Amino acid sequence: MPAIVQATYCNTYSDFIAKFQNDLITILNPVRGEKILDLGCGTGNLSRELLSRGVYVTSVDSTPSMVKAAKAAGVDAILADEATFESDKKFDAIVSNFALHWLDDQFSFIKNAYRLLRSGGRLAVECGGSGCVRIIREGIKLALQSRGIDYKSRNPWKFPGVDDTVAVLESHGFRVQSIGRYNCPIELSHGIRLWLEVFAESYVEGMSREERNSFYEDVEEYCLPMLYDKKTQAWTADYVRLRFLATKE
Ligand code: BEZ
Repeated sequence: MPAIVQATYCNTYSDFIAKFQNDLITILNPVRGEKILDLGCGTGNLSRELLSRGVYVTSVDSTPSMVKAAKAAGVDAILADEATFESDKKFDAIVSNFALHWLDDQFSFIKNAYRLLRSGGRLAVECGGSGCVRIIREGIKLALQSRGIDYKSRNPWKFPGVDDTVAVLESHGFRVQSIGRYNCPIELSHGIRLWLEVFAESYVEGMSREERNSFYEDVEEYCLPMLYDKKTQAWTADYVRLRFLATKE
């Protein structure tokens, strides 16, 4: 996340991620005194909520700026790769809120989660699901193509579907207790441009400021008829959420 927008955006962004986290907490069903690992803790909202419920939380994130933000919010976050993080202790549960779709190797994340859990332990995950921000991604793809840039090699996201996720979880020894995919339009109170600057940074790598501006304008123009409401003057992003609870057999 670029430093200039991070400070302004993080709080607003975490506002809606925080809204998602209530559903995740419901399926996680944390119990006072449990040892819970927050994998991909981001700015630390979920960890703080769990701490306030008397849980022993270990918080991990692979992005230095996120670890810094979490620490500033009072969470003793550890900088480590979510898919390879090691610990001597076994956890009662692992939770992950809106981090999995950023990981290149989702198999390793699941495999590692299985290794880190005690027998009977829970894995509760919420992430972007298949089809998430489809319209925005289409706009990005077209804008890249028109500049002769390959979309795939710059795409930082993998949005898993229900069937694939069940197959991966079961093949790693988990039993799926619940899984669902939900359409979840999110109003972008700071507009789509800032969202792109924060989340779609990898697509504009190596571009000059002018090139970036023109790229963002093209994406915005593509999305406008579908994601902008002229009456309310509000942008909405076409988020899709995937949420599941699995247990270690
Ligand atoms: C997110 O992490 O919130 C996110 C990133 C890319 C697309 C959609 C959501």
